[in-house]
Amino acid sequence: MKIVIGNDHAGVGLKNTIKAFLEEKGYEVINVGTDTTESVDYPVYGEKVGRCVADGKADLGIAICGTGLGISLAANKVRGIRACVCSEPYTAVMSRRHNNCNVLCFGARVVGEDLAKMIVEEWLNAKFEGGRHQRRVDLIMKIEEEKN
Ligand code: RB5
Repeated sequence: MKIVIGNDHAGVGLKNTIKAFLEEKGYEVINVGTDTTESVDYPVYGEKVGRCVADGKADLGIAICGTGLGISLAANKVRGIRACVCSEPYTAVMSRRHNNCNVLCFGARVVGEDLAKMIVEEWLNAKFEGGRHQRRVDLIMKIEEEKN
């Protein structure tokens, strides 16, 4: 499975930790984030992660900024993306089971390294349940098709 990971300057350290964690587990990781702490604009990186998933270059995405919020807002503007900010494992699991989340977001200024690893692991192990949840996800995606 291929996972794209992206981040702004606030997320460099945690990105490197999560990238190494995923590679140790055998995942192929595509890094589209910044690799320095020089200030950058998080929407650029949220969009990069979102496009990589939407174009099928990666199966799932992980996006990290200071809070997880800005980068998730940007990723969610890409058609087909369901980006969820998850600061603990329960929400991360449910974001897969019920919402078929395809981009996991969190904040490097919010979660520590060990918690982030746990969030990522539980998120990757969780499976979309389909059924009534598919209907609801379809309703979300239909909003993208409407003229706004
Ligand atoms: C950058 O200082 C910070 O605003 C950004 O990382 C993120 O938290 C935005 O939502």
